[in-house]
Amino acid sequence: MTTHPNGKTMNIIGFSKYGKPSELKKITAAYPHGFDASNNIVIKVHASAINPVDKALLSGDLKMVIPVAAFPHVICYDVAGVVEEADSEGKFSVGQEVFARLFGNEKDGKKTPWYRGAMAEYCVADTSNVVPKPENLSFEEAASIPLVGMTALQVLKASGLKEGDSILITGGAGGVGTMAIQLAKHVFKAGRVVTTASKGDKENLCMTLGADEVIDYKTAKFEEVFGESDESKFDVCFDTTGESLQMSEVVKDGGSIVTIAGMATLEELRRIGGTAWILKLFVKRRVKRKEYKAAKSNNADWNYLFLSPSQEDLSTLAKHLESGAIKPVLDGVWDFHSEDAKDGWQGAFNQSFSGRAKGKCVVKIV
Ligand SMILES: NC(=O)c1ccc[n+]([C@@H]2O[C@H](COP(=O)([O-])OP(=O)(O)OC[C@H]3O[C@@H](n4cnc5c(N)ncnc54)[C@H](OP(=O)(O)O)[C@@H]3O)[C@@H](O)[C@H]2O)c1
Repeated sequence: MTTHPNGKTMNIIGFSKYGKPSELKKITAAYPHGFDASNNIVIKVHASAINPVDKALLSGDLKMVIPVAAFPHVICYDVAGVVEEADSEGKFSVGQEVFARLFGNEKDGKKTPWYRGAMAEYCVADTSNVVPKPENLSFEEAASIPLVGMTALQVLKASGLKEGDSILITGGAGGVGTMAIQLAKHVFKAGRVVTTASKGDKENLCMTLGADEVIDYKTAKFEEVFGESDESKFDVCFDTTGESLQMSEVVKDGGSIVTIAGMATLEELRRIGGTAWILKLFVKRRVKRKEYKAAKSNNADWNYLFLSPSQEDLSTLAKHLESGAIKPVLDGVWDFHSEDAKDGWQGAFNQSFSGRAKGKCVVKIV
Protein backbone atom coordinates (compact mmCIF):
# COMPACT_ATOMS: atom_id res chain seq x y z
CA MET A 1 0.00 0.00 0.00
CA THR A 2 1.74 3.18 -1.17
CA THR A 3 2.01 6.35 0.89
CA HIS A 4 -0.41 9.17 0.16
CA PRO A 5 1.41 12.13 -1.47
CA ASN A 6 0.22 14.44 1.34
CA GLY A 7 0.76 11.81 4.01
CA LYS A 8 -3.01 11.57 4.66
CA THR A 9 -3.98 8.33 6.44
CA MET A 10 -7.03 6.33 7.45
CA ASN A 11 -7.78 3.27 9.57
CA ILE A 12 -8.58 0.01 7.80
CA ILE A 13 -9.29 -3.57 8.81
CA GLY A 14 -7.09 -5.76 6.66
CA PHE A 15 -4.58 -8.57 6.44
CA SER A 16 -0.91 -8.63 5.50
CA LYS A 17 -0.78 -12.33 4.65
CA TYR A 18 -3.26 -15.11 3.94
CA GLY A 19 -4.28 -17.08 6.99
CA LYS A 20 -6.65 -17.38 9.95
CA PRO A 21 -9.04 -14.65 11.17
CA SER A 22 -6.31 -13.68 13.68
CA GLU A 23 -4.44 -12.20 10.68
CA LEU A 24 -7.06 -9.45 10.53
CA LYS A 25 -5.73 -6.26 12.12
CA LYS A 26 -6.64 -2.62 12.38
CA ILE A 27 -3.92 -0.85 10.40
CA THR A 28 -3.12 2.76 9.56
CA ALA A 29 -2.96 3.05 5.77
CA ALA A 30 -2.78 5.72 3.10
CA TYR A 31 -6.00 7.57 2.25
CA PRO A 32 -7.16 6.43 -1.26
CA HIS A 33 -5.26 8.02 -4.13
CA GLY A 34 -4.03 7.31 -7.63
CA PHE A 35 -7.42 6.16 -8.96
CA ASP A 36 -9.22 7.36 -12.08
CA ALA A 37 -11.52 10.16 -10.89
CA SER A 38 -13.64 10.07 -14.05
CA ASN A 39 -15.49 6.92 -13.00
CA ASN A 40 -14.67 6.55 -9.28
CA ILE A 41 -15.82 8.22 -6.09
CA VAL A 42 -14.40 8.20 -2.56
CA ILE A 43 -16.97 7.13 0.04
CA LYS A 44 -16.66 8.05 3.72
CA VAL A 45 -17.70 4.66 5.03
CA HIS A 46 -20.38 4.73 7.75
CA ALA A 47 -20.94 0.97 7.85
CA SER A 48 -19.66 -2.20 6.23
CA ALA A 49 -20.99 -5.78 6.30
CA ILE A 50 -19.17 -9.12 6.40
CA ASN A 51 -19.78 -12.10 4.10
CA PRO A 52 -18.49 -15.72 3.96
CA VAL A 53 -16.40 -14.77 0.89
CA ASP A 54 -14.30 -12.50 3.14
CA LYS A 55 -13.22 -15.52 5.19
CA ALA A 56 -12.41 -17.47 2.01
CA LEU A 57 -10.42 -14.54 0.62
CA LEU A 58 -8.48 -14.16 3.87
CA SER A 59 -7.66 -17.88 3.98
CA GLY A 60 -6.11 -17.78 0.51
CA ASP A 61 -8.60 -20.33 -0.84
CA LEU A 62 -9.69 -17.92 -3.57
CA LYS A 63 -6.32 -16.61 -4.64
CA MET A 64 -6.51 -18.13 -8.11
CA VAL A 65 -9.90 -16.56 -8.77
CA ILE A 66 -9.73 -13.30 -6.80
CA PRO A 67 -6.05 -12.53 -6.23
CA VAL A 68 -5.19 -9.89 -3.65
CA ALA A 69 -3.36 -7.08 -5.46
CA ALA A 70 -1.24 -5.86 -2.56
CA PHE A 71 -0.83 -6.41 1.16
CA PRO A 72 -2.15 -5.20 3.50
CA HIS A 73 -5.48 -5.85 1.83
CA VAL A 74 -8.62 -4.06 3.04
CA ILE A 75 -11.29 -6.69 3.72
CA CYS A 76 -15.03 -6.67 2.84
CA TYR A 77 -17.13 -5.57 -0.12
CA ASP A 78 -20.37 -4.15 1.31
CA VAL A 79 -20.49 -0.45 2.08
CA ALA A 80 -22.89 2.36 3.00
CA GLY A 81 -21.67 5.89 3.47
CA VAL A 82 -21.45 9.45 2.20
CA VAL A 83 -19.70 10.67 -0.95
CA GLU A 84 -16.47 12.38 0.14
CA GLU A 85 -15.02 12.97 -3.36
CA ALA A 86 -17.31 13.03 -6.39
CA ASP A 87 -16.47 11.63 -9.82
CA SER A 88 -15.42 14.17 -12.47
CA GLU A 89 -18.27 13.00 -14.73
CA GLY A 90 -20.70 14.28 -12.09
CA LYS A 91 -22.83 11.17 -11.60
CA PHE A 92 -22.58 11.57 -7.82
CA SER A 93 -22.15 14.64 -5.63
CA VAL A 94 -20.29 15.31 -2.39
CA GLY A 95 -22.49 14.62 0.63
CA GLN A 96 -24.79 12.16 -1.16
CA GLU A 97 -25.74 9.04 0.85
CA VAL A 98 -24.94 5.87 -1.10
CA PHE A 99 -24.52 2.12 -0.83
CA ALA A 100 -22.62 -0.40 -2.94
CA ARG A 101 -21.06 -3.80 -3.33
CA LEU A 102 -17.51 -2.94 -4.37
CA PHE A 103 -16.20 -4.59 -7.54
CA GLY A 104 -13.07 -3.89 -9.52
CA ASN A 105 -13.43 -2.52 -13.04
CA GLU A 106 -11.72 -3.08 -16.37
CA LYS A 107 -9.41 -0.14 -15.85
CA ASP A 108 -8.09 -1.85 -12.71
CA GLY A 109 -6.79 -4.70 -14.82
CA LYS A 110 -7.18 -8.19 -13.44
CA LYS A 111 -6.22 -7.44 -9.86
CA THR A 112 -8.48 -5.46 -7.58
CA PRO A 113 -6.51 -2.61 -5.96
CA TRP A 114 -6.24 -2.29 -2.21
CA TYR A 115 -8.37 0.82 -1.97
CA ARG A 116 -11.53 -1.03 -3.02
CA GLY A 117 -11.95 -2.79 0.33
CA ALA A 118 -14.97 -1.60 2.33
CA MET A 119 -13.94 -2.14 5.98
CA ALA A 120 -12.12 1.18 6.21
CA GLU A 121 -12.79 4.80 7.03
CA TYR A 122 -12.79 5.58 3.29
CA CYS A 123 -13.05 3.46 0.15
CA VAL A 124 -13.10 3.97 -3.60
CA ALA A 125 -16.07 2.76 -5.64
CA ASP A 126 -16.61 2.59 -9.38
CA THR A 127 -19.69 4.74 -10.05
CA SER A 128 -21.25 1.87 -12.02
CA ASN A 129 -21.57 -0.08 -8.73
CA VAL A 130 -23.02 2.70 -6.58
CA VAL A 131 -26.70 3.51 -5.88
CA PRO A 132 -28.31 6.21 -3.67
CA LYS A 133 -29.04 4.79 -0.21
CA PRO A 134 -32.75 4.14 0.47
CA GLU A 135 -33.85 7.03 2.70
CA ASN A 136 -35.77 4.82 5.12
CA LEU A 137 -32.67 2.73 5.97
CA SER A 138 -29.90 3.48 8.44
CA PHE A 139 -26.33 3.18 7.13
CA GLU A 140 -25.96 -0.11 9.04
CA GLU A 141 -29.11 -1.52 7.43
CA ALA A 142 -28.09 -0.35 3.97
CA ALA A 143 -24.60 -1.88 4.29
CA SER A 144 -26.19 -5.27 5.03
CA ILE A 145 -27.89 -5.49 1.63
CA PRO A 146 -25.74 -5.30 -1.51
CA LEU A 147 -23.87 -8.62 -1.75
CA VAL A 148 -26.60 -10.89 -0.40
CA GLY A 149 -29.48 -8.91 -1.91
CA MET A 150 -28.00 -8.89 -5.40
CA THR A 151 -27.06 -12.57 -5.16
CA ALA A 152 -30.59 -13.56 -4.13
CA LEU A 153 -32.15 -11.39 -6.83
CA GLN A 154 -29.85 -12.69 -9.57
CA VAL A 155 -30.49 -16.32 -8.60
CA LEU A 156 -34.26 -15.85 -8.54
CA LYS A 157 -34.16 -14.18 -11.97
CA ALA A 158 -31.92 -16.92 -13.39
CA SER A 159 -34.13 -19.65 -11.91
CA GLY A 160 -37.17 -18.56 -13.91
CA LEU A 161 -39.35 -18.36 -10.76
CA LYS A 162 -42.84 -17.16 -11.68
CA GLU A 163 -45.85 -15.93 -9.73
CA GLY A 164 -47.56 -18.82 -7.97
CA ASP A 165 -44.56 -21.17 -8.28
CA SER A 166 -43.19 -23.23 -5.41
CA ILE A 167 -39.60 -22.74 -4.23
CA LEU A 168 -37.28 -24.46 -1.77
CA ILE A 169 -34.53 -22.22 -0.35
CA THR A 170 -31.92 -23.84 1.88
CA GLY A 171 -30.22 -21.82 4.63
CA GLY A 172 -33.18 -19.48 5.18
CA ALA A 173 -31.69 -17.69 8.21
CA GLY A 174 -28.42 -16.74 6.52
CA GLY A 175 -27.58 -13.49 4.76
CA VAL A 176 -28.64 -14.75 1.33
CA GLY A 177 -31.52 -16.88 2.64
CA THR A 178 -33.21 -13.99 4.48
CA MET A 179 -33.16 -11.92 1.28
CA ALA A 180 -34.20 -14.86 -0.92
CA ILE A 181 -37.29 -15.70 1.19
CA GLN A 182 -38.51 -12.09 1.13
CA LEU A 183 -37.87 -11.57 -2.58
CA ALA A 184 -39.43 -14.90 -3.54
CA LYS A 185 -42.58 -14.27 -1.48
CA HIS A 186 -43.14 -10.52 -1.74
CA VAL A 187 -41.56 -9.56 -5.08
CA PHE A 188 -41.73 -12.67 -7.28
CA LYS A 189 -45.02 -13.63 -5.56
CA ALA A 190 -44.13 -17.31 -5.21
CA GLY A 191 -47.12 -19.40 -4.14
CA ARG A 192 -45.24 -21.66 -1.72
CA VAL A 193 -41.91 -20.80 -0.06
CA VAL A 194 -40.24 -23.57 1.94
CA THR A 195 -36.90 -23.12 3.66
CA THR A 196 -34.49 -24.93 5.96
CA ALA A 197 -33.27 -23.51 9.29
CA SER A 198 -32.69 -24.65 12.85
CA LYS A 199 -35.60 -24.63 15.30
CA GLY A 200 -36.44 -21.67 17.54
CA ASP A 201 -35.32 -18.11 16.68
CA LYS A 202 -34.18 -18.95 13.17
CA GLU A 203 -37.34 -20.84 12.27
CA ASN A 204 -39.45 -17.94 13.63
CA LEU A 205 -37.40 -15.40 11.68
CA CYS A 206 -37.96 -17.31 8.41
CA MET A 207 -41.73 -17.46 9.02
CA THR A 208 -41.80 -13.70 9.73
CA LEU A 209 -39.96 -13.03 6.48
CA GLY A 210 -42.54 -14.92 4.43
CA ALA A 211 -41.72 -18.64 4.52
CA ASP A 212 -44.79 -20.89 4.44
CA GLU A 213 -42.94 -23.82 5.96
CA VAL A 214 -39.59 -24.29 7.69
CA ILE A 215 -37.82 -27.65 7.84
CA ASP A 216 -35.54 -28.09 10.85
CA TYR A 217 -32.43 -29.24 9.00
CA LYS A 218 -30.93 -30.69 12.17
CA THR A 219 -33.69 -33.29 12.57
CA ALA A 220 -35.11 -33.78 9.06
CA LYS A 221 -33.86 -34.10 5.49
CA PHE A 222 -35.81 -32.07 2.95
CA GLU A 223 -35.39 -34.80 0.32
CA GLU A 224 -37.14 -37.27 2.64
CA VAL A 225 -39.92 -34.81 3.53
CA PHE A 226 -40.71 -33.74 -0.06
CA GLY A 227 -39.24 -36.51 -2.22
CA GLU A 228 -42.15 -38.94 -2.08
CA SER A 229 -45.03 -37.25 -3.90
CA ASP A 230 -44.96 -35.14 -7.08
CA GLU A 231 -47.37 -32.58 -5.54
CA SER A 232 -44.94 -31.68 -2.78
CA LYS A 233 -42.00 -31.07 -5.18
CA PHE A 234 -40.73 -27.63 -6.23
CA ASP A 235 -40.63 -25.60 -9.44
CA VAL A 236 -37.40 -23.97 -8.25
CA CYS A 237 -34.71 -24.99 -5.75
CA PHE A 238 -32.23 -22.34 -4.50
CA ASP A 239 -29.23 -23.84 -2.73
CA THR A 240 -27.15 -21.74 -0.32
CA THR A 241 -25.82 -24.66 1.73
CA GLY A 242 -24.16 -27.05 -0.74
CA GLU A 243 -27.16 -29.40 -1.01
CA SER A 244 -27.99 -29.04 -4.70
CA LEU A 245 -27.37 -32.75 -5.38
CA GLN A 246 -30.18 -33.74 -3.00
CA MET A 247 -32.42 -31.12 -4.61
CA SER A 248 -32.69 -33.30 -7.73
CA GLU A 249 -34.95 -35.53 -5.59
CA VAL A 250 -37.41 -32.73 -4.86
CA VAL A 251 -37.40 -30.63 -8.04
CA LYS A 252 -40.38 -30.94 -10.38
CA ASP A 253 -40.11 -32.29 -13.91
CA GLY A 254 -39.06 -29.23 -15.97
CA GLY A 255 -37.97 -27.32 -12.84
CA SER A 256 -34.67 -25.65 -12.07
CA ILE A 257 -31.99 -25.84 -9.40
CA VAL A 258 -29.56 -22.95 -8.86
CA THR A 259 -26.70 -23.15 -6.39
CA ILE A 260 -24.33 -20.48 -5.11
CA ALA A 261 -22.45 -22.78 -2.71
CA GLY A 262 -19.45 -25.03 -3.14
CA MET A 263 -17.31 -25.30 -6.25
CA ALA A 264 -18.30 -23.15 -9.22
CA THR A 265 -18.45 -24.51 -12.76
CA LEU A 266 -15.73 -23.72 -15.26
CA GLU A 267 -18.21 -21.73 -17.38
CA GLU A 268 -19.22 -19.57 -14.41
CA LEU A 269 -15.61 -18.94 -13.39
CA ARG A 270 -14.84 -17.87 -16.95
CA ARG A 271 -17.91 -15.63 -17.03
CA ILE A 272 -16.78 -13.69 -13.95
CA GLY A 273 -13.24 -13.42 -15.32
CA GLY A 274 -11.53 -16.18 -13.30
CA THR A 275 -7.90 -15.60 -14.00
CA ALA A 276 -5.99 -18.83 -14.08
CA TRP A 277 -5.91 -21.34 -16.94
CA ILE A 278 -4.93 -23.87 -14.31
CA LEU A 279 -8.55 -23.80 -13.09
CA LYS A 280 -9.32 -26.00 -16.08
CA LEU A 281 -7.32 -28.78 -14.50
CA PHE A 282 -9.63 -29.23 -11.56
CA VAL A 283 -12.81 -27.21 -12.11
CA LYS A 284 -15.37 -29.26 -14.01
CA ARG A 285 -17.60 -28.09 -16.81
CA ARG A 286 -21.28 -27.91 -15.92
CA VAL A 287 -22.27 -31.02 -17.87
CA LYS A 288 -19.61 -33.09 -16.10
CA ARG A 289 -20.94 -32.31 -12.63
CA LYS A 290 -22.85 -35.00 -10.75
CA GLU A 291 -25.37 -32.37 -9.61
CA TYR A 292 -26.11 -31.50 -13.26
CA LYS A 293 -26.43 -35.16 -14.22
CA ALA A 294 -28.77 -35.90 -11.28
CA ALA A 295 -30.98 -32.92 -12.17
CA LYS A 296 -31.05 -33.90 -15.86
CA SER A 297 -32.08 -37.44 -14.97
CA ASN A 298 -35.18 -35.83 -13.41
CA ASN A 299 -35.66 -33.59 -16.46
CA ALA A 300 -34.63 -30.48 -14.49
CA ASP A 301 -31.92 -27.89 -14.99
CA TRP A 302 -28.94 -27.24 -12.70
CA ASN A 303 -26.68 -24.17 -12.64
CA TYR A 304 -24.05 -22.55 -10.46
CA LEU A 305 -24.30 -18.77 -10.20
CA PHE A 306 -21.70 -16.20 -9.19
CA LEU A 307 -22.84 -12.71 -8.24
CA SER A 308 -22.20 -10.18 -11.05
CA PRO A 309 -21.91 -6.39 -10.78
CA SER A 310 -25.28 -4.78 -11.55
CA GLN A 311 -26.27 -1.24 -10.68
CA GLU A 312 -29.71 -2.07 -12.07
CA ASP A 313 -30.18 -4.93 -9.59
CA LEU A 314 -29.04 -2.82 -6.64
CA SER A 315 -31.45 -0.04 -7.75
CA THR A 316 -34.25 -2.63 -7.91
CA LEU A 317 -33.43 -3.73 -4.36
CA ALA A 318 -33.38 -0.06 -3.21
CA LYS A 319 -36.89 0.36 -4.62
CA HIS A 320 -38.17 -2.75 -2.80
CA LEU A 321 -36.51 -1.61 0.43
CA GLU A 322 -38.14 1.82 0.12
CA SER A 323 -41.57 0.30 -0.47
CA GLY A 324 -41.08 -2.02 2.52
CA ALA A 325 -41.52 -5.17 0.37
CA ILE A 326 -38.20 -6.40 1.75
CA LYS A 327 -36.38 -5.51 4.96
CA PRO A 328 -32.77 -5.77 6.15
CA VAL A 329 -32.07 -8.54 8.66
CA LEU A 330 -29.22 -7.76 11.06
CA ASP A 331 -27.67 -10.29 13.41
CA GLY A 332 -25.97 -7.36 15.11
CA VAL A 333 -23.93 -4.16 14.81
CA TRP A 334 -20.37 -3.96 16.13
CA ASP A 335 -18.05 -0.99 16.72
CA PHE A 336 -15.16 -0.36 14.30
CA HIS A 337 -13.34 1.77 16.87
CA SER A 338 -13.43 -0.77 19.69
CA GLU A 339 -10.78 -3.46 20.12
CA ASP A 340 -13.03 -5.32 22.58
CA ALA A 341 -13.09 -8.95 21.42
CA LYS A 342 -16.87 -9.14 21.90
CA ASP A 343 -18.33 -5.72 21.12
CA GLY A 344 -15.62 -4.41 18.80
CA TRP A 345 -15.01 -5.18 15.11
CA GLN A 346 -13.42 -8.53 15.95
CA GLY A 347 -16.72 -9.67 17.46
CA ALA A 348 -18.45 -9.05 14.13
CA PHE A 349 -15.92 -11.17 12.23
CA ASN A 350 -16.11 -13.93 14.86
CA GLN A 351 -19.89 -14.08 14.59
CA SER A 352 -20.01 -13.94 10.78
CA PHE A 353 -17.14 -16.40 10.28
CA SER A 354 -18.77 -18.86 12.73
CA GLY A 355 -21.36 -19.62 10.02
CA ARG A 356 -24.11 -19.31 12.66
CA ALA A 357 -25.27 -15.73 12.06
CA LYS A 358 -28.95 -14.82 11.76
CA GLY A 359 -28.90 -12.33 8.89
CA LYS A 360 -25.96 -9.95 8.58
CA CYS A 361 -23.07 -8.90 10.82
CA VAL A 362 -22.42 -5.18 10.34
CA VAL A 363 -19.62 -2.92 11.59
CA LYS A 364 -20.47 0.70 12.34
CA ILE A 365 -17.69 3.12 11.51
CA VAL A 366 -19.33 6.56 11.83
N1 LIG B 1 -21.83 -17.67 -5.57
C1 LIG B 1 -21.98 -16.45 -5.05
O1 LIG B 1 -21.87 -15.44 -5.76
C2 LIG B 1 -22.27 -16.31 -3.59
C3 LIG B 1 -22.75 -15.09 -3.10
C4 LIG B 1 -23.09 -15.02 -1.73
C5 LIG B 1 -22.89 -16.12 -0.91
N2 LIG B 1 -22.38 -17.27 -1.43
C6 LIG B 1 -22.21 -18.46 -0.59
O2 LIG B 1 -23.50 -18.86 -0.14
C7 LIG B 1 -23.39 -19.45 1.15
C8 LIG B 1 -24.37 -18.77 2.09
O3 LIG B 1 -23.99 -17.42 2.27
P1 LIG B 1 -24.67 -16.55 3.42
O4 LIG B 1 -24.09 -15.19 3.35
O5 LIG B 1 -26.13 -16.71 3.41
O6 LIG B 1 -24.08 -17.31 4.71
P2 LIG B 1 -24.30 -17.02 6.26
O7 LIG B 1 -25.10 -15.78 6.43
O8 LIG B 1 -22.99 -17.12 6.93
O9 LIG B 1 -25.21 -18.29 6.70
C9 LIG B 1 -25.31 -18.56 8.05
C10 LIG B 1 -26.64 -19.25 8.33
O10 LIG B 1 -26.72 -20.49 7.62
C11 LIG B 1 -27.40 -21.43 8.45
N3 LIG B 1 -27.04 -22.78 8.02
C12 LIG B 1 -25.80 -23.33 7.98
N4 LIG B 1 -25.86 -24.59 7.49
C13 LIG B 1 -27.16 -24.83 7.22
C14 LIG B 1 -27.87 -25.94 6.67
N5 LIG B 1 -27.24 -27.07 6.30
N6 LIG B 1 -29.20 -25.82 6.51
C15 LIG B 1 -29.87 -24.71 6.86
N7 LIG B 1 -29.26 -23.62 7.38
C16 LIG B 1 -27.92 -23.68 7.55
C17 LIG B 1 -26.93 -21.10 9.84
O11 LIG B 1 -27.89 -21.51 10.77
P3 LIG B 1 -27.52 -22.52 11.99
O12 LIG B 1 -26.68 -21.72 12.94
O13 LIG B 1 -28.82 -22.94 12.51
O14 LIG B 1 -26.73 -23.64 11.37
C18 LIG B 1 -26.82 -19.56 9.79
O15 LIG B 1 -28.03 -18.96 10.20
C19 LIG B 1 -21.92 -19.34 1.56
O16 LIG B 1 -21.28 -20.54 1.23
C20 LIG B 1 -21.40 -18.23 0.65
O17 LIG B 1 -20.01 -18.34 0.41
C21 LIG B 1 -22.06 -17.39 -2.75
